[in-house]
Amino acid sequence: MENDIYQERYLKHQLDKKEELIKIMKERHSNRRFDDKPIPQEIIDELISVVELAPSSCDRKAIKVEVITDRDKKALLGGILVGGVGWIHRAPAILLITADPKAYKAEGEIKFMPYLDGGVVSQQLALTATSLGIHGCFANPNIRDFNVDHYHKIFGPNILTMAFAIGYPIEEDSSDKEK
Ligand SMILES: Cc1cc2nc3c(=O)[nH]c(=O)nc-3n(C[C@H](O)[C@H](O)[C@H](O)COP(=O)(O)O)c2cc1C
Repeated sequence: MENDIYQERYLKHQLDKKEELIKIMKERHSNRRFDDKPIPQEIIDELISVVELAPSSCDRKAIKVEVITDRDKKALLGGILVGGVGWIHRAPAILLITADPKAYKAEGEIKFMPYLDGGVVSQQLALTATSLGIHGCFANPNIRDFNVDHYHKIFGPNILTMAFAIGYPIEEDSSDKEK
């Protein structure tokens, strides 16, 4: 068969793109300790800009991301997010990945669909953070029953689907995987 240099170039281009994504996936890992340095607003904006690129159930785009940098709010999250106790309050920023409950109208779907939509956005954020040189770790959205009302009083009515703590790496810290 005749060599098609254009096709060869196209295939190589496609392969390079795929390898880039796989490289970022391999590089991503959880970090729960961060440098104190705040993340500049333009980097936060760049990170958040990928949220709207994520697919969502029925294309409803009900996922919102709130950036928490206020010390008192971070301290509160450090106390009530079951998966963040002891570390999450030290992150320079905590992204709350929430879903607007009004968007989920089909019978029963509110029990699972917000968390699926939130999970898709969460991974999108995690990979983008890695590509920007930002470290992070997810914290599951579990809040003990007696804290749920207080959480909503402070952070609003949306369903918390995931929290993602982010910051710059500290020198000696490459990975501190959960045991
Ligand atoms: C849905 C989900 C929930 C998680 N919840 C927590 C959590 O509550 N607290 C925590 O410290 N890490 C949490 N993690 C991080 C995992 O422990 C971590 O991703 C896993 O151990 C693999 O390590 P790696 O991210 O470094 O590859 C969560 C990860 C996922 C995907």
